[in-house]
Amino acid sequence: MNYEKLMLRAISHANQYKYTAKPNPVVGCIIVKGKEIISEGAHEKFGCNHAEINAINSAKLNLGKSFNSFEELTLICTLEPCNHTGKTGPCTEAIISSGIRNVVIGALDPNPLVSGKGIKKLKKNGINVISGICAELVEEQNKFFFFKNTYKRPFITAKIASSLDGKSHLLDDQKTWITCKESREDVQKLRASVDVILTGGNTVVNDNPLMNARVNFPINQPKKILLSSKTNFNFDAPFFKNANYEIITERSIKNVVNSFGSTDITSILVEAGPKLINSFLNEDYVDKLIIYESTSKLGPNGVDWFKGDNAVEKLGFKLESSYKIKSDTKKIYIK
Ligand SMILES: NC(=O)c1ccc[n+]([C@@H]2O[C@H](COP(=O)([O-])OP(=O)(O)OC[C@H]3O[C@@H](n4cnc5c(N)ncnc54)[C@H](OP(=O)(O)O)[C@@H]3O)[C@@H](O)[C@H]2O)c1
Repeated sequence: MNYEKLMLRAISHANQYKYTAKPNPVVGCIIVKGKEIISEGAHEKFGCNHAEINAINSAKLNLGKSFNSFEELTLICTLEPCNHTGKTGPCTEAIISSGIRNVVIGALDPNPLVSGKGIKKLKKNGINVISGICAELVEEQNKFFFFKNTYKRPFITAKIASSLDGKSHLLDDQKTWITCKESREDVQKLRASVDVILTGGNTVVNDNPLMNARVNFPINQPKKILLSSKTNFNFDAPFFKNANYEIITERSIKNVVNSFGSTDITSILVEAGPKLINSFLNEDYVDKLIIYESTSKLGPNGVDWFKGDNAVEKLGFKLESSYKIKSDTKKIYIK
């Protein structure tokens, strides 16, 4: 049987939960009897049921109707079923006790401590397992999760708004809107897609930002992380009020980034001024750089983002894409 079509369907079913499942990976699951779809499930929300459990529970409602025994069924799952107890029980146990005899898997779990163990457990219990179906697509869909498990640190995106003459803000620290409304709306979606928004003490004091993701669909709000040695913040300010935030006083970017290795955070968006952004860039902790460039100039009273010409290219970045957002240009650079 060709399972690719069903795997693609499970991948796209999972995709709708990318803003609520994070920092967990999105996972989709389909249970079939031959070519007939019996049930579908996804990991819908962080901390809630895994995709396999939702699909099995929903299949149970059809027992005696569209099928008579779970032994007739095949479970297709985008990611290797977990074999450990986290916030929910192991999915391997649920599959084994359901009576399902055939399992088709997309990608293996990237965590070397658990990779392959789910498959091993299923096989040990007499279940036929096929794996590697559309694995690359599953890995791409869960890019941050796979990156974190491979490199033991979160994927880091730095986002900056720049005037046409390469400036960040005005010398007098006055809050300046550089980009258009449509670019700022695009940033809200970018924020919604990450686990953490990270900034610095001057930006919080000078700009008084809210720095959450203001979108019109359900999301698991990113945590806010503030790198600062200051102690005199106004904790009634929007940045802090009713927010999940943490202040980190450590100055070493390397230590800060590596401290996330033991957490479930897989992605960070750095939104800060030139000092902190350049610290991340110079220490080689930026995986993607996004520049929203406006058509207006700030002139000699503006603070430069970078020293010298072609600074971004000299740091080893290549332009991946560039397109217009109303009057601005969004440029995406990768290494
Ligand atoms: N155009 C844009 O996209 C954009 C975005 C954000 C901000 N801004 C502008 O940027 C201005 C502030 O820029 P900024 O760069 O001075 O401030 P920043 O974004 O607050 O970053 C610098 C601050 O980060 C903290 N920090 C901790 N570890 C650091 C390290 N290793 N290297 C550098 N900083 C570290 C320090 O906070 P403490 O001093 O508190 O210890 C430092 O003063 C604001 O006025 C704002 O308007 C522009």
